[in-house]
Amino acid sequence: MFIEWQNNQPAQMRCVNKWFETQDTVSIQLAATDGTHLHFSGFKPGQFVSLGLEFNGKMEYRAYSIASMPGDNHLKLTIKRVEGGLMSNYIVDELKAGDEVAVLTPTGPFNSIDCQPKKKVALLSAGCGITPVMSMAKTWLRDEAEIDITFIHQAKSKAQTIYFEELEALAVEHDNFNLKLLLKDNTDAEHEEGRLDKEWLTTLCPDLAERTVYLCGPTAFMSDMEANALELGVDASQFHQESFTPIDAHTEAEDAGGVVQFEVPAFGVSAEVVQGATLADVLEENGVPVIIACRSGMCGSCKCKVTKGEVTRSSTETLTEADIEAGYTLACSTQVQSDVEVSLN
Ligand code: FES
Repeated sequence: MFIEWQNNQPAQMRCVNKWFETQDTVSIQLAATDGTHLHFSGFKPGQFVSLGLEFNGKMEYRAYSIASMPGDNHLKLTIKRVEGGLMSNYIVDELKAGDEVAVLTPTGPFNSIDCQPKKKVALLSAGCGITPVMSMAKTWLRDEAEIDITFIHQAKSKAQTIYFEELEALAVEHDNFNLKLLLKDNTDAEHEEGRLDKEWLTTLCPDLAERTVYLCGPTAFMSDMEANALELGVDASQFHQESFTPIDAHTEAEDAGGVVQFEVPAFGVSAEVVQGATLADVLEENGVPVIIACRSGMCGSCKCKVTKGEVTRSSTETLTEADIEAGYTLACSTQVQSDVEVSLN
């Protein structure tokens, strides 16, 4: 049995299991709504899904990387508490086995199929950024791909290392899985103490330049590691990173100032909006039922069509040339520049 997504409409799934990985991080397993497990193949290791839950009568969507492997009989996500995080904190504190969630089509260019590895890889992660690279590593190991994996992960302590026991078990089981845990507060001789920088990177992975590098973690960690990896000789074509940075929806609108007319005829919407406003915000504010999930121009859920007027785009990641030609755009990455007319089809 398979979950099928049509036109990127959400599929309903049920949480069948939930447990704490660390004090502030949970993993959940999702299966079909009747509780039966699925042979779940419709994604590439490293990709993410957007989960939808209703808050105060409004559907909200947030993107989370998939931690399980294609072919597993469930979809596993690992979610960390974040300050002010409406959905993440709800999932950590409230969601329970038996609850249903909406799930959008798995997507994302950061994956081990579209970003093919060389024979040697380095997976670099910090905190919850471990999730997509764990899916990649486990899939290569399960499939007995002949890939030499150096897995470098930074965390605060052993207790705050997501998947700690699973990582150690993989390291014991597989000669080609070289685990390097770098802990800020280390308490034993098996792991290193410190913060990942250029020096540590050279120490932990002396042949980094010969490897395909996959990077995921907090924004500052990623920009530091990207600079370090390129300085240490990693070929830019062999460097891949996850990018989930939400676009600041209001910046350009605040800078612009003029007023333009905004119309969505199918929903009877006609309103004045600030020139430079982000189309996703304008649609939401006017009650048009568009799905805004990643807010990063990555998932494609907010695709809509500009039938009249001028817009600027900061991402066209999931659109084809023909889509763009026909006026399609990603609402979260689109700024309204003149009077516009928009359709959701
Ligand atoms: S919300 Fe994901 S691309 Fe716009």
